[in-house]
Amino acid sequence: MSVDAELSDFIRRMPKVELHVHLEGAIRAPTLLQLAKRRSVELPAGDVAGIERWLEFRDFDHFLEVYLTISRCLRDPEDFQLITAAFLEEQARQNIRHTEAHFTISTHIANGVNAGEVAEALAETVLDGERNLGVRLRWIPDIVRNVDPSRADQTLEWALSHRDHFVAAIGLSGKESHAAAPFREHFEVAKAEGLHRAVHAGEQSGPATVWEALELCGAERIGHGIRAVDDPDLVDELRRRRIPLEVNPTSNVCLGLVASLAEHPIRVIREEGLSFSINSDDPALFHTSLTRELELVAGELALNRREVASLSTAALDQAFLTPGERDTLAGEFAAWFEKDGLSPDSPSG
Ligand code: ADE
Ligand code: ZN
Repeated sequence: MSVDAELSDFIRRMPKVELHVHLEGAIRAPTLLQLAKRRSVELPAGDVAGIERWLEFRDFDHFLEVYLTISRCLRDPEDFQLITAAFLEEQARQNIRHTEAHFTISTHIANGVNAGEVAEALAETVLDGERNLGVRLRWIPDIVRNVDPSRADQTLEWALSHRDHFVAAIGLSGKESHAAAPFREHFEVAKAEGLHRAVHAGEQSGPATVWEALELCGAERIGHGIRAVDDPDLVDELRRRRIPLEVNPTSNVCLGLVASLAEHPIRVIREEGLSFSINSDDPALFHTSLTRELELVAGELALNRREVASLSTAALDQAFLTPGERDTLAGEFAAWFEKDGLSPDSPSG
């Protein structure tokens, strides 16, 4: 079911928070072509239409292959500034006031980038976004399960040494057929040092990976986690501990993990009373955006304006913000919704 024009307009305009999006997966085709030319990287296609065809994923391995090719187009600090500035403009266009973005620094280090220079460059662009566009961005450097565990050391080190460069958390991504156990110590150190933890799990594999994320990684949020619904004990545990799932519906369909939106576990996740947020994951690779994902979910679950607004406020609650930052944004969101006729005690909207 699709949403009517009025609800669609409300979703487009309302203030939003995005908690699960990858910087490298947010590079739109024209920017990618520009970077590939700049860095003399041969892409499988030389125009936007060809790039779109390249992005029809056969499976998760194909997706990772595309990801690595895109990453090879990023070399100098200016490249990272270019993609971050474009990303922030897009977030501002969608009125996404706070974003937490995964970023795979270890892949870029393996490609020969200067990690310190990249951190400086990213911080400069984040600051510009905050000042000029009024949107906030925080980083989640992620450890990749399916590469040499020594690269995880680089990720943790980069995260810890650049905390004042807008790093909020440490993440875990990649192929879930690779266990989380080798990274237990990285997550323990991150926690002891005061970094948050957001872990991809229960996307490509079953509930066991979500248990691992909780028990070995001290995950505070689960990236995807859609397979958690297959284990009632896990559902109880997630609900009891209020661990949110970062749900990315179109990503799951594009990667063949869910047959269609109608069969997506989002309905069960909501009915079970689990905390969740809606996100785009890799918007450029899946031809989507947070706005689009919210529209799809609103249509599928037949949500009204008030229920859609509560998705924004729930994501804000789940964000890795300080209490002061959260209060400020919550006040701004409440004022916006009130102006739009959604005061805290008004009817369903
Ligand atoms: N890296 C980028 N997108 C990802 C996803 N959906 N799952 C795991 N790792 C990823
Ligand atoms: Zn992801």
